[in-house]
Amino acid sequence: MVRKPTKEDKFSFGLWTVGWLAADPFGDTTRTALKPWEYAEKLAELGAWGITFHDNDVFPFDATDAERAEIVGKLKDTVDATGLTIEMVTTNTFTHPIFKDGGLTNNDRSIRRFGLRKILRNVDLAAELGATTFVMWGGREGAEYDSSKDLGAVFDRYKEGLDTVAQYIKDQGYNLRIGLEPKPNEPRGDIFLPTVGHALALIAELDNGDIVGLNPEVGHEQMAGLNYTHALAQALNAGKLFHIDLNGQKGLKYDQDLVFGHGDLLSAFFTVDLLVNGFPGGGPRYEGPIHFDYKPRAPTASTACGSPRQRTWRCTSSSRRRPAPSAPTRPSRRP
Ligand code: GCO
Ligand code: MN
Ligand code: MN
Repeated sequence: MVRKPTKEDKFSFGLWTVGWLAADPFGDTTRTALKPWEYAEKLAELGAWGITFHDNDVFPFDATDAERAEIVGKLKDTVDATGLTIEMVTTNTFTHPIFKDGGLTNNDRSIRRFGLRKILRNVDLAAELGATTFVMWGGREGAEYDSSKDLGAVFDRYKEGLDTVAQYIKDQGYNLRIGLEPKPNEPRGDIFLPTVGHALALIAELDNGDIVGLNPEVGHEQMAGLNYTHALAQALNAGKLFHIDLNGQKGLKYDQDLVFGHGDLLSAFFTVDLLVNGFPGGGPRYEGPIHFDYKPRAPTASTACGSPRQRTWRCTSSSRRRPAPSAPTRPSRRP
């Protein structure tokens, strides 16, 4: 029997995870987009406690103030009606072409300022919606060519940007803490702050580092061949484990965002042990949400075959490979 999750489990999901349209660098989208509040409704129905999102998971990059207010209002109504919590909000500083070479560390001062403004505006939204964590994943803060950036200036700019956001949170009296999310690469060849250890070292140099901690992701540490449970433990021991992104990863490759436990199952076991039971000798405990950052797979031929039971007898490997009657036999947009 599978136990139905309840709000006490404190399970929380990014709208960009359940809302992933299953495109990849080689193929178009294969899932259908729903409205943000439709994802929220379904998550609540399934027993989730919280939701999280980027500004542009909810409203478009170029939304007018009125559109933004209307869409956010609808999501908020659903969240209130279903008893969900908006526990974390984060900013998209990676999709729009203006961010192709980073936001806070961009060589162009006007882009750094634009990125900062987008982040601060989203800090206001996070506070307004009652979020307590503000994640910052600097996916575009990086380089492919080491001659493309003054690497000394990069870290000064990164620290200045983070300190400005943290100072703003303090000045406004918001109940928010920043969670940095390290990742070694993808989309950039090399991302600055590649691991939890790098991020901890940078935080120690900030003026406002007291409200800056970590949001470590399973796949991101394991992409670098590192031990996720050790990373969590070091952040926890330093009083810096503010939030988590759980998913699964099979070793050194692109960020797979598999379901948690799929990948290194033994590591997942010890992660759960640490999160649920803490250190054997006591000490700081992780009290935050159990937050998932995974990507639901595209519906495949085998799932299209029906229930898991049907799949074992009706959908043989040859029938699975055969295209559905109405499907084109070859991708139409490829030469
Ligand atoms: C990724 C990251 C993102 C962040 C998200 C929150 O590899 O794409 O994990 O999903 O978690 O942007 O800031
Ligand atoms: Mn993540
Ligand atoms: Mn990721």
